[in-house]
Amino acid sequence: MISTTLSTQEAIALEDRYGAHNYHPLPVVLAKGEGVYVWDVEGKQYFDFLSAYSAVNQGHCHPTIIQALTEQAKTLTLTSRAFYNSLLGECEKFITEFFGYEKVLMMNSGAEAVETAIKLCRKWGYEKKHIPENEAKIIVCEQNFHGRTTTIVSFSSDNDAKNNFGPYMPGFIKIPYNDLDALEEALQQENVAGFLVEPIQGEAGVFVPDENFIKEAAKLCKAHNVLFIADEVQTGIARTGSLLAVCGHCNCQQACQQQEDTYVTPDILILGKALSGGVYPVSAVLANDDIMLVIQPGQHGSTFGGNPLACAVAMAALTVIKEERLMENARRLGQLFRERMAALMEKYPDKVKAVRGKGLLNAIDIYEKEGKSAWDVCLALKEKGLLAKPTHGDKIRFAPPLVITEAQLQTCCDIIEEVIVAY
Ligand SMILES: Cc1ncc(COP(=O)(O)O)c(C=O)c1O
Repeated sequence: MISTTLSTQEAIALEDRYGAHNYHPLPVVLAKGEGVYVWDVEGKQYFDFLSAYSAVNQGHCHPTIIQALTEQAKTLTLTSRAFYNSLLGECEKFITEFFGYEKVLMMNSGAEAVETAIKLCRKWGYEKKHIPENEAKIIVCEQNFHGRTTTIVSFSSDNDAKNNFGPYMPGFIKIPYNDLDALEEALQQENVAGFLVEPIQGEAGVFVPDENFIKEAAKLCKAHNVLFIADEVQTGIARTGSLLAVCGHCNCQQACQQQEDTYVTPDILILGKALSGGVYPVSAVLANDDIMLVIQPGQHGSTFGGNPLACAVAMAALTVIKEERLMENARRLGQLFRERMAALMEKYPDKVKAVRGKGLLNAIDIYEKEGKSAWDVCLALKEKGLLAKPTHGDKIRFAPPLVITEAQLQTCCDIIEEVIVAY
């Protein structure tokens, strides 16, 4: 039993009464997490198949990360960037070497990192590409999800995210996802500074583009002197079976770089979520000097960005990814998961419409029937001890912490099968 005085109903009622209604959570109140498991206030145990939208790749309350957090919390938490702090330089060296870039700019949330990338791209466009003042354009994709700031929702295709939040920020060209012809056409326009893209569209329902899309898109951008900006906030840091989803072909970035054919190096790389293992908001934008150094003192920043607590946590979180070989686990168990789901679809073609994903970022589409939707499937999964969330009406994303074992994954597939069969 978890020590809390509130029941599920009471906790939900409090949120409903005093909190803004900006989310529609599954009716479960979580009080504890460890590895792949979370527990509700009544002490019921669940498999977490959302991982806080892929932030908890290293598993809940990973001891190495929590130790780094608590030790640093007792020492120094925040200085602001008005002064140097003893961990930022070390962390910047660690992160840039880890991902193979010359510079990093640390922020807090994913959306802030995307905003940072947009500002960086525009400034590069004016100062290095000599785009006329206020004319810079950035190409983005339909059905994107990059966060919820006023600039970012300006180029969203999701009416809930966008409507009545105008006036909208100009300077974005929207093209269909996974469409190289559309990209090539958009690149013909004048004053294009960048192409911002998710290597797999997570929130849209885990849409995996064609094998060559990212590689060819990066090549097209290079040919047009346009920055290729990868938003790996959800797909990065081992989630899809490689360090980055743009890498995609092997488990080791260094080896990939030697095979230039398979490795894409985004001009600007955006990271968040699992950069802290879900224990603290840490995000980052990486680029080489010719891009990053267009930003000068006073031109961008954040009180909390790059604080010592964030630095300690990020270094620990990335160390866990490497030491526990989570890329390999995501790759192997992701394959197994999709095989199980594909077998389920073959057996119940009237219930499961599609299975897709990469590594341990996967989704199934179900046929909605008799007024029942993916939401109802998720409620049934919850009853059986597995927490997942619909992304849209008929799509359910399955993204467990990457520390999940094969036996645990098989158990979870059994639960999903049981629920789908009864659906
Ligand atoms: C691809 C992508 N970019 C950006 C974000 C925004 O991150 P945050 O919610 O930390 O602002 C998300 C969040 O889901 C995301 O999936």
